[in-house]
Parts: sequence; structure tokens; C-alpha cells
Amino acid sequence: MLDERTIILLIEKALEARQASYSPYSDYQVGAALLTADGEFFTGCNIENAAYSPTNCAERTAFFKAVSEGRKNFDAIAIVGGPKDMEITQYAYPCGVCRQVMMEFCNPETFQIIVAKSTKEYDVKTLKQLLPEGFGAANLE
Ligand code: THU
Repeated sequence: MLDERTIILLIEKALEARQASYSPYSDYQVGAALLTADGEFFTGCNIENAAYSPTNCAERTAFFKAVSEGRKNFDAIAIVGGPKDMEITQYAYPCGVCRQVMMEFCNPETFQIIVAKSTKEYDVKTLKQLLPEGFGAANLE
């Protein structure tokens, strides 16, 4: 289980990462901070595109940065999202594609997904809660 200090640190890093959001088409800014099993942090933001479909979510940016640098074991991710220049009033639960990417690298029983409005208001779920009966590498064995 994550201690509260780590949860708050993850949320702070996600809020900071959100500042870099490139989202001129939706004006919806998302930031994520991913914690590896070794205690390292990788952050990400959403990156949109004029052709729309190449858009990458904040969560996948964080995962792809980490995996591309050789990390493959993860404990938790914090996600913050909301319209530009507005107070965050909703939890930005990860989209289905991001949940599937998490399924590739994380234990669904233990991987923690923190969605936050602030460091004081957040919700914590396991990947299994957000992606029950998920399809993963074990299905291909
Ligand atoms: N977005 C994320 O970054 N993460 C999600 O899990 C859902 C959606 C981004 C994609 C797009 O840039 C914007 O939010 C609006 O969909």
C-alpha cells in the first residue's frame, strides 16, 4: 500500500506535468506521474495533434517514457485533468486505451491508480477495479 506522503508527492508531480500539456484542440489538460517499483518517478502530459488521432494521453506518455528508458515494474500512477485555466472539479479516470497499456506492465491486483482534484481530494483504485477481467500477456501463454 502507498503511504499518504507518496500519494501527495505523486499528485504534486502530476499537477506539475499538467503544465506542459499540449492540448490546443480540446483545451483539456492532463498530467500524470508514474512511480516505479524502485521508487523513481516518470511524468507525462497529453500531447494532441492537428490530425487528432495521433493524440497521446498523459498516462501513456508517462508509461512510454519509463518503458523506453528500461523500466518495466510499476507501483502507482497519479492523474489530474480538467479544462485549461479552470479549477479541477472532476476526477480524470484513465481512458480504456490507457487502462490496457497499464495492463501490459502492471499487476492489476496491486497497481494503484490515483485520480485527484488536489493533494487533499483524491480517489485510489486498483487497476483490477478499473479494468476487471482484463486481457493481458498471461492470456497468450
Ligand atoms: N486524455 C488523457 O490525457 N488521458 C485520458 O485518460 C483521457 C483523455 C486527453 C486526450 C486529449 O488530449 C484530451 O484528454 C481530451 O480527450
